[in-house]
Amino acid sequence: MSDQANENIESVLQETRSFPPPAEFVEQANISSKEQYEELWNRAKDDPAGFWGDLAQGLEWSQPYDQVLEGEMPETKWFTGGKINASVNCIDRHLDSWRKNKAAIVWEGEPGDTRVLRYQDLYREVCKFANCLKKLGVETGDRVTLYMPMVPELAIAMLACSRIGATHSIIFGGFSADAIADRNNDAQAKLVITADGGWRRGKNIPLKEAVDQSLEKSPSVEKVVVYRRTGCEVDMVPDRDYWWHDLMEDVSAECDPVELDSEHPLFILYTSGSTGKPKGVQHSTGGYLLGTMMTSKWVFDLKEDDTYWCTADIGWITGHSYIVYGPLANGATTVMYEGAPNWPDEGRFWEIIEKYQVNIFYTAPTAIRAFIKWGDEWPNKYDLSSLRLLGTVGEPINPEAWMWYHTVIGQERCPIVDTWWQTETGGIMMSPLPGVTATKPGSCTTPLPGVVPDIVTAEGESLGDNQGGLLVMRQPWPHMLRTLYGDHERFKDVYFSTIEGCYLAGDSARRDEDGYYWIMGRIDDVINVSGHRLSTMEVESALVAHPKVAEAAVVGFPHEIKGEGICCFVTLTTEDGSDELKNELKQHVRTQIGVVATPDEIRFAAALPKTRSGKIMRRLLRDIAAGRESTGDTTTLEDFNVIANLKQKED
Ligand code: WT7
Repeated sequence: MSDQANENIESVLQETRSFPPPAEFVEQANISSKEQYEELWNRAKDDPAGFWGDLAQGLEWSQPYDQVLEGEMPETKWFTGGKINASVNCIDRHLDSWRKNKAAIVWEGEPGDTRVLRYQDLYREVCKFANCLKKLGVETGDRVTLYMPMVPELAIAMLACSRIGATHSIIFGGFSADAIADRNNDAQAKLVITADGGWRRGKNIPLKEAVDQSLEKSPSVEKVVVYRRTGCEVDMVPDRDYWWHDLMEDVSAECDPVELDSEHPLFILYTSGSTGKPKGVQHSTGGYLLGTMMTSKWVFDLKEDDTYWCTADIGWITGHSYIVYGPLANGATTVMYEGAPNWPDEGRFWEIIEKYQVNIFYTAPTAIRAFIKWGDEWPNKYDLSSLRLLGTVGEPINPEAWMWYHTVIGQERCPIVDTWWQTETGGIMMSPLPGVTATKPGSCTTPLPGVVPDIVTAEGESLGDNQGGLLVMRQPWPHMLRTLYGDHERFKDVYFSTIEGCYLAGDSARRDEDGYYWIMGRIDDVINVSGHRLSTMEVESALVAHPKVAEAAVVGFPHEIKGEGICCFVTLTTEDGSDELKNELKQHVRTQIGVVATPDEIRFAAALPKTRSGKIMRRLLRDIAAGRESTGDTTTLEDFNVIANLKQKED
């Protein structure tokens, strides 16, 4: 835990507005009364095995499980003895009904090209690609890296991996070659699936080139599959690189699914932690599928004829759980869009909603803040009357952004579900149920059935109403992470060693007098930039790897669009404090980590403020970065001049 956790946790947000679910929504909702919710929640709390065991009947098992829940946190196992396959549950079981010709994926490319894959089409493509993987030597238990643009082939590749029991590890396209190499090595990936490039604001993002560079440092990777998307020039290395379309030419469109243990690792997804080294969050098959299937149904009130759109990139957990696995396990129609929200203009998202008559729309507060800035004229140009439900995820939503979403996009007709969860939790944990919960702007409201949160002190004592503290989970849930790949000790240490018997979320929060949860921020050195988690240590490590940097301290500061921006305080080994060097360092961080970590500000300093024991005083730096007068105690500061100098630099 950082010094941030030791500061008094106080909430400044005072929000009293409350919006009950509209009557027309309640009438048609999957869960429509408080009694129903309470009954589900209480049963899940008192009898988790009975509750989840009943729901698991809604999945297709090739061999029934012996036991629903085994062990205690952190060593919990779900549905042991059961055999299951994720691709069967997302595809095959929809084929013996009329759903066989229902749209599974409605895709829109950034340049305006479109594709629709019906469940039957998805089945054929997934089977064929699974056969390609086998042909290239991929076996059950191998790890496969995916570094792809938002094209249907990304979902096809995920499901093909799951069909043969290969564990996928998706790396967001905004990460650099170095980041790919780190993840390839950590996971010991055998194969990489990528594309020549992807479209972003009309420009080609050279994905294959980044993979080529990464492979100079990833000895475990034997082969690469390249999907042709943009048609840009790429180097193909003989006997290592294969075109997707060539491989698909002569393979069978049938591929028997491998029957896997319920606990078989479906995927690994890297996320930032307190230290510089990303964590390989590992998810299971049976529990994860059940969790994403049920939470999709509850939170998004999914109906058979809905068109559902989550705008996340599949490179993040939101895309895994709520573009691919959750919606497809429900047999839903999921929309997938390749590009930027402001290409060719700022109306693109609203145009897509009108074009496909989207009913459920799930996006991030950072996007909403950008929409507000771009102006109401963009959404106002389009017919948004198909929308019946709106969602947000990734960071706290400011009440004003919430109100804008409610009035301008939802036209006061659509409930808003503010969903709190994490890469580690696999699925949504706290959220309104749209047919039940009165919403309050800025609160993720109440826990879903099966989720038993609490707010505690650092000593583990439960706190009362409106007292800020550490957010923990007191009970296990089926879709929680199982380990950090290759580092079970770190898994136990990070999540389960602080508060006895509980999962530590890493967020601070308070619960109000109505039992509503309000997330206040992280308690570790993790910042949330545009809804993406970044470790300040990761950026610091990247900076000090530059020959001209002696020392670096990185903090977040409030940013109008991104939520948090990245501010880097840097001491140099040279006299060169130029603007060119600032740009060079920004570029350097981009090359080391990726575009997601590009610093917003670099500030050169003669020294960094430290405690007598030599710890950098990040709290002071946060105040300076935010332009606040520091209110904290500075008596332990090693040298008062340091802080005076840093402040002067601002003017
Ligand atoms: C962290 C997890 C899981 C979706 C994408 C982010 C913050 C997430 C909310 C919300 C306030 C939120 C938390 C959390 N967060 N959703 N609705 N309200 N904060 O996943 O990268 O694993 O980040 O995002 O701080 O710990 P992630």
